[in-house]
Amino acid sequence: MNNRYAVVLAAGQGTRMKSKLYKVMHPVMGKPMVGHVVDQAQAVNLDQVVTVTGVGAETVQEYLGEKSSYVLQEEQLGTAHAVKQAASELKDKEGTTLVICGDTPLLTADTLKGLVEFHEKEGAKATVLTAHANNPFGYGRVIRSEEGAVTKIVEQKDASEAEAAVQEINTGTYCFDNKALFETLEKVKNENVQGEYYLPDVIEILKNQSELVAAFQLDNMDEALGVNDRVALAQANKVMKERINEQHMRNGVTMIDPANTYIESDVVIGQDTLVEPGVYLKGSTTIGEDCTIGAHSVIVDSTIGNGVNVTSSMIEESIMGDYSDIGPSSHLRPQTVLKESVHIGNFVEVKKATIGKKTKIGHLTYVGDAELGEDINIGCGTVFVNYDGKNKHKITVGDNSFIGCNTNLIAPVTVEKNTYIAAGSTITDTVPENSLAIARARQTIKEDYINKMSIKD
Ligand code: UD1
Ligand code: MG
Repeated sequence: MNNRYAVVLAAGQGTRMKSKLYKVMHPVMGKPMVGHVVDQAQAVNLDQVVTVTGVGAETVQEYLGEKSSYVLQEEQLGTAHAVKQAASELKDKEGTTLVICGDTPLLTADTLKGLVEFHEKEGAKATVLTAHANNPFGYGRVIRSEEGAVTKIVEQKDASEAEAAVQEINTGTYCFDNKALFETLEKVKNENVQGEYYLPDVIEILKNQSELVAAFQLDNMDEALGVNDRVALAQANKVMKERINEQHMRNGVTMIDPANTYIESDVVIGQDTLVEPGVYLKGSTTIGEDCTIGAHSVIVDSTIGNGVNVTSSMIEESIMGDYSDIGPSSHLRPQTVLKESVHIGNFVEVKKATIGKKTKIGHLTYVGDAELGEDINIGCGTVFVNYDGKNKHKITVGDNSFIGCNTNLIAPVTVEKNTYIAAGSTITDTVPENSLAIARARQTIKEDYINKMSIKD
């Protein structure tokens, strides 16, 4: 098989995004655009990926890591100039080079594979991936001869009226014979409206040298979307969201209203799980089988077991064990671990705490920096007082304890197993095993008080 390389163009300023964030790092359903591009390109069995980055693009390098090697384009003089920077890595190599823009996140592995295989079968020096656009504005137009052969690509700003009327557009994705590419790049000039070195000009130059230039046409414009501004970014999110949701439904996940269900690219969901409308599942979240993720829940970077019910709650960087449940309106903050069959009811906040099997925290409670055993009942309104204004301290509660309503546990403190704490207690010292702790003022009764009050007539 031919050697195969890819050059990913990611050095552009992204001026039209009007953003502090580097363009290709803008996420589409949670994953930076350049991440989608590089991951899809892997399907082509590449020997090497070279990403062209610009000044201030350390973020791209940090993000892609070892998936790519990197070359720097110090000044953004155009897409041909960008590819030329990869000469130091690829120039003398034999093989096929796929060039992709970092701002076309919807291209699929199947399309890229189809393009490369077509290009190699045709024996072309260059093959451009084109698409039919109902509204081609902003894209390079693919100009063909009367016989239908591609002769050149004209950018929007350089197009005549007749050229601008052409609806076949350049997706910005190409395959080249590697050596021909780098030889031809030397011949590209910047005599155009933008004064830039255009990569699409390589097509016309090769054609004029009577080399074989081919086109591979996509039927689906959705894949070709180039994201240059936030309007296109929203379109990309919409298409990607639909794709992701369809994939989950095909894998056995039920969605009541996929148009209003948001699941980021790396989320995994088990069979027979129901996802209700308005749910947002983000980051590296995994959800098991037979769960119900109720309306308007948000789950970020968390692992949810099997048979879990989540009702209108927010879960961040936490783990929920099998058959546990939460909500409505509760919040798991980072480093919370709920073991099997834990019940978290409404208006409960848990942070950096491990909660043992079958423990119940039903209502209006804050648990932070704590270790709770199994089969504990935490009464309504309990506060784990973990912060002294400077430092956080730990609270431990042993198995089978019963914490009465409206208890304050002042950290650091230990409540041993099989204990009772009377409602309204403020606990500052260890509660030993098998004991009852009452830490509140005793009730006082003043008999006949109302009749003795001077204000009474
Ligand atoms: C480009 C194509 C256009 C095509 C469209 C598809 C050119 C001249 N035009 O236009 O024919 O229809 O993509 O989406 O190629 N970049 C660099 N260095 C540079 C300039 C750009 O690395 O000096 C990178 C950008 O980061 C981006 C990609 O190249 O990822 C494309 O650049 P962009 O400015 O978005 O080009 P378009 O105007 O979209
Ligand atoms: Mg673009």
